[in-house]
Amino acid sequence: MKLAVLSETRPGERRVALVPDMVAKLVSAGVEVTLQQGAGLGSYFDDSAFHESGARLAPDAKSAADGADAVLKVQAPTPAEVETLPGGTTLIGLFQPSSQIEVVKKLAESRVDMFSLDLLPRISRAQGMDALSSQATVQGYKAALMAADMLPRFFPMFMTAAGTVPPAKVLVLGAGVAGLQAIATARRLGAVVRAYDVRAASRQEVESLGASFVEIALETKEGAGGYASAQSEEFLAAQRELIGAQVAASDVVITTAAIPGRAAPLLVTSEMVDAMPAGSVIIDIAAESGGNCELSQPGSDVVHHNVTIRGTANLASSMPTHASALYARNISNFFLAMLKDGEFKPDFDDEIISATCVLRSGEVVHPPTRERIHQDVT
Ligand SMILES: NC(=O)c1ccc[n+]([C@@H]2O[C@H](COP(=O)([O-])OP(=O)(O)OC[C@H]3O[C@@H](n4cnc5c(N)ncnc54)[C@H](O)[C@@H]3O)[C@@H](O)[C@H]2O)c1
Repeated sequence: MKLAVLSETRPGERRVALVPDMVAKLVSAGVEVTLQQGAGLGSYFDDSAFHESGARLAPDAKSAADGADAVLKVQAPTPAEVETLPGGTTLIGLFQPSSQIEVVKKLAESRVDMFSLDLLPRISRAQGMDALSSQATVQGYKAALMAADMLPRFFPMFMTAAGTVPPAKVLVLGAGVAGLQAIATARRLGAVVRAYDVRAASRQEVESLGASFVEIALETKEGAGGYASAQSEEFLAAQRELIGAQVAASDVVITTAAIPGRAAPLLVTSEMVDAMPAGSVIIDIAAESGGNCELSQPGSDVVHHNVTIRGTANLASSMPTHASALYARNISNFFLAMLKDGEFKPDFDDEIISATCVLRSGEVVHPPTRERIHQDVT
């Protein structure tokens, strides 16, 4: 059973799909692991550490993937990288297949099977494989630290001989995995934190972290599988109206609201930003999927009325050592679940395997991706 780990080539991507500890675990399970030389350098794991854990080193992607039953990555390959993958291999990573149609088509032509952890069902058996949650933990933590760094005020309250400094007021919109981590981090730094989510279940989680839950008198649609469902345009308009006063009273707004497979809901308008105190900061974690703030641009800072809006891009990659370590554990657990008697034999009757499969024997088996390809053709 042969496994290859390739370097990430997307600009700014510093994570790696396996770390030395996980190589050792896989090797002890009888897996032969080959690493493309230098693949771990962006996350501070050098080749010698991989070698000592039992990995073989290969000079380039093509020789690393040669003969591999499975290839592990973080990001989807570029079309050029697809050329390096041998037909019949299985590619596993954290891909968004319905927005990466060209690569999916190329992989299908090359007869590469594909699984994405982005599609993992949120059932308890899959928790150890949940890369979306592990990477969201990094995002939420980093978003709160960024806000504290950018804000021209202290987060904690200080009582000094030069006077008393009031604590910063932080509002977190969307209290899922990233939002809860942002709340916990901002609380540890001493800020006063309020948070809101459309899922009623999040109230208890928010309060258990010492933050207060923002009450909005609107009835929400609950989704399935622990996710929120998309709300109507009327709901979102009413929500914006009610959130406006909360935004205006905050020094920091961290937005993390998302609906799987859809554009992020618009929660903060430019009028709301106008009403924020000068020097305030908005960190929009959802910037890459359309943005929760009307003004955010993924990967850059926009200054509007003395408020800085940071649209984050690939935030998990900015803390690559731990992001990779967590991801490596998730992907190793997923991969090991596909082995039977030491051989690579994914069980397609298993909900986890069938839900995450995008390509099988040249066929697109993930319905939304198939639909997107069909729409492109017609
Ligand atoms: N294995 C499991 O059982 C498992 C694993 C992970 C997460 N979960 C559950 O799923 C929840 C959500 O996960 P996630 O963080 O990946 O979600 P996500 O990244 O898809 O969304 C982030 C948050 O945005 C919220 N949101 C969506 N629309 C909104 C709106 N208009 N206004 C305010 N908030 C809005 C969602 O409710 C969610 O909490 C978690 O908090 C957890 O309870 C379960």
